[in-house]
Parts: sequence; C-alpha cells; structure tokens
Amino acid sequence: MTKIVATKPYADQKPGTSGLRKKVPVFAQENYAENFIQAIFDSLEGFQGKTLVIGGDGRYYNREVIQKAIRIAAANGFGKVLVGQGGILSTPAASNVIRKYAAYGGTILSASHNPGGPDEDFGIKYNIGNGGPAPEKITDAIFSRTKVIDSYRTLETPDIDLDTVGTLKVGDLTVEVIDPVADYAALMEELFDFGAIRALIASGFRVVIDSMSAVTGPYAVEILEKRLGAPAGSVRNAEPLPDFGGHHPDPNLVHAKELYDDVMSPEGPDFGAASDGDGDRNMVVGKGMFVTPSDSLAIIAANAKLAPGYSAGIAGIARSMPTSAAADRVAEKLGVGIFETPTGWKFFGNLLDAGLATVCGEESFGTGSSHVREKDGLWAVLFWLNIIAARKEGVKEIVTGHWAEFGRNYYSRHDYEAIETEKADALMAELRGKLATLPGRSFGALKVETADDFSYHDPVDGSISSKQGVRILFEGGSRVVFRLSGTGTSGATLRVYVERYEPDAARHGIDTQEALADLIAVADEIAGIRAHTGRTEPTVIT
Ligand code: G6P
Ligand code: ZN
Repeated sequence: MTKIVATKPYADQKPGTSGLRKKVPVFAQENYAENFIQAIFDSLEGFQGKTLVIGGDGRYYNREVIQKAIRIAAANGFGKVLVGQGGILSTPAASNVIRKYAAYGGTILSASHNPGGPDEDFGIKYNIGNGGPAPEKITDAIFSRTKVIDSYRTLETPDIDLDTVGTLKVGDLTVEVIDPVADYAALMEELFDFGAIRALIASGFRVVIDSMSAVTGPYAVEILEKRLGAPAGSVRNAEPLPDFGGHHPDPNLVHAKELYDDVMSPEGPDFGAASDGDGDRNMVVGKGMFVTPSDSLAIIAANAKLAPGYSAGIAGIARSMPTSAAADRVAEKLGVGIFETPTGWKFFGNLLDAGLATVCGEESFGTGSSHVREKDGLWAVLFWLNIIAARKEGVKEIVTGHWAEFGRNYYSRHDYEAIETEKADALMAELRGKLATLPGRSFGALKVETADDFSYHDPVDGSISSKQGVRILFEGGSRVVFRLSGTGTSGATLRVYVERYEPDAARHGIDTQEALADLIAVADEIAGIRAHTGRTEPTVIT
C-alpha cells in the first residue's frame, strides 16, 4: 500500500517566524503540501513507531492537508497519530497533547491570525517533543530538504473518518481521533481557581469572549459557559468556520473593534477577550481599559501567586525584545530573572525547559507559561479572571494600580503592511548602516544612548541569533525598534515599536499616541519611512 511518489522541489518553502505560510492556491499546487510534510519527516530522526500529533485551526484546506499528513506519517513509519476530532486542535491544545502523551512531535496546520478561505492563507508548522515550535536548526534543515526533495512516501487509502472520536487503523498506523477540548480544559482547571471565577460570574460580573469564528469557540464554550457558568451566548462567534466568517481573526483594536466598543459602552459587559485563528493570541479589555499585551505580561507576572498553579511563585519572566520593559520592573521587584529574546515563541522553549522562566510574553498579543510550550490565549483570559476574582478589583483598577506601583510604559506598534520587499530591505539596510553614528545625537529633547541590531545569545544552548531588529534607545528609557515581520505572506511588513517610560503617576492618563508623538516623529526622521516607502501613515496601529 505504501507508494513513493516522484516530485519536484519548490524553491519557496522557507519557514518564517512560525512555520510555512502561503496562500491556499500556493499550497494547493501539485505535491506542495506533500513535499513540505515529507521534508519535515526527512529532517527528523528516530520517530519510527512513535506518536505524532496532528491538528489545525479548522481553516479552509485544513481537512485536506490533515488527510495527506496522516497518510504520509503512516508511510514514513510513525506508530500512532493523535488527531483532534474534525481535524481541530488549537495551537496551545496541540502543545498540551504532545506533552501529555509524550508524543515525538506534532504538525499544526494554521496560519494563525491571517485570514482563511480559498484565496487566503494556510500554514504548516512542526512542533518538537517538548510541545514547542521547532528551533531554527530544524526549520533550516527542513528548508534545505525542500530545495532538493525528489519524492515523498504516502499510503493509498480512502479518506480517514476524522469526525468520530475513537481508534482506527490506517495500514500499520493507529489513528486515535481525540476530543480536542477535554485535555486542555482539564489543564486549565488545574491551574486556575475555577471556584472563585465561577463565584465572580455568579455575582453578576459579565464576561464575553469573541472567538472570531476560529478555533477557540469549542474551548471557550466548554470552559466559560459550561464549567464557569457564564450565560449561553457569552462566547460570540463560537463556531469555527473555514473562512472565519470573512473576519480577520486577529484580536487587536482594529479587528476586534466591535468587542472593544461593546465593553466600553456603559451597558456593555465588564470584561471582554478575543483570540486569534489558532487560539494562541489574546486580547483583554476591561470596562474603560484596554490592556496592552506588554502590560498584560507584567501584570500576570506580578499577580501570579494568586493562581493556584503558580502559588509557589515564578522562576523568571521572558519577553521578546520589542515587547515593552514593563515586565522587567516586575522581575526586578520579585527578584527573579528577566530574559529578552528575539520575536518568535520558539525562543522561549529553552528557557522554559531549563526552568529559567515561568511566564513569557510578546507584544504581538501573546502570553503564556511553562504549562505548555506555545502562547495560550484562553490561559491568559483565565489568568485575568482569576486575578480579578482574587483581588476583587476590575481591570481598570488593576492596571492603574500596577502603573502607580511600577510606572507606566507607554507603548504602541505601527505597522506598514505590504510594502515592496526591495523598499523595505533598503530601509533596513540604510538604518543598519547608520547605527554607529546615532549614539550621542539629539532629536529635540531625545538623546540617543545606544543603537544596535539585536543579537540573542541563548543562555541554555549557546546559540546566537543575529539581526533580530534595530533598536534605538534614548536616555530615560524611551526607545524605538524597527524590524520586518516574519509572518506576512505578501510583500514586507515594517513594524515600528515605540515606547516611553513614565514613572510619574500624575502623567499616566495621557492618550498613548499623544504620549509617544515625539518618538513617532523621530522614528520617521531616523528611518526615512516616508522617503523609502511613500507611506504617510501606518496601515495598522496597535
Ligand atoms: C507569531 C509568532 C509570535 C510572533 C508573531 C509576530 O504569532 O508565534 O511568536 O511574535 O508571530 O511575528 P512577526 O514576525 O509578524 O512580527
Ligand atoms: Zn496564532
């Protein structure tokens, strides 16, 4: 039944920040997905007879590729596949399943927060046995393999029934179709004080979660409505749809604006949260207060002991370089380690495995901890509800109280999307070229202290990742960071991250864009954004 199919390599299968992402028509080219999956397996060793986890966010083309992946896994000698019912597993749930059942690894089919549909995005990524995204040495090996691959192995077999929980055989391979929610919900119940959150909700505290017609719907309904007692309908857009209902499943102030407006209205809910396509991102909004992801990390870390799973305290905090330094002040106060990594969750894996960090976060709406090896949207939402229940304070009081204690890091990200790649590269090259000339220079009241291209030395395995983003640090703790996104699928996206530290509580109520206006102007002056790209304003401001 095993069949070896001759194939031709594709030149463009380089995994980005989080796996290979392309438009569906690209993935649908002959043997395109097959090549990539075979290249993954060709880059691994010792998986014969072992378990592979497969799941995806339910987007368009998910089912087709899952069928292909199971066949290829069978023909390559895996012993068992654990697959979520209906092909569904959120990214954090997949990470949990890999860990819980000591699987060899897993393939997650998702393009995360990118839109889905016949002409939209699809993606495949590989996670290793610790449950986290494959490190660069594996993704580099996969890419090298894709450039020379000339055949893949598969099994001739009818379509596999993914819709019924149970065990079946595909050739010698055992396929176990599992409930995608159960293990994850059990883990959340271990980490958080469900009794306290249930009491909070029963007392009239109104919580809504917008699942954006993506993968978290079934998870949020089970946890929020069934286990925590929120009224039916508290989870909006709860049914995962292949095209996410035409929405852009990225939880931020642009794409989850309806939720934001609802929570801000006087008669609206007390707390709102949203998640992305594959369930690893989160956005948290309280009455009168949007919580920036950077602040969310700092506040979760500062209050970690309030959740049962973290009552012994945290070992350390890790954040990506462009994430604000709010968490650094918390780490300092707690007397725990703080780690600054490049963008990409995979860089947290070693720190978590080594027990150096317990909570991690990124400005890109990602927060998580050592409970899995991915960021985890619903985990962050439950952490917030646990903190609210324990402190008996609303989101706004918690955030402003945190600022009063630690100071406020005003923070914003300006994205310039779909710029021509050559123009974006030219901008970055010119910026890198002038770094040495910047220290000591003044721009109005802002004086450059240091300027560099961020390079990360992994303290666990000693690896070095260079060119991870240009940072310009000003005296007093303000900074501007420039980098090109590693997750886009058309052209280049320039991200400009702007941050100002304000210790004075009397100055914590300023509008963010206003508080950062001078830095935003200096960012353009130094990088020549208008001159290089012709853009006069960002596509998205978060
Ligand atoms: C994905 C990764 C994150 C990363 C984010 C932004 O969600 O999992 O770790 O922070 O992409 O990446 P980008 O390269 O687009 O800024
Ligand atoms: Zn995601």
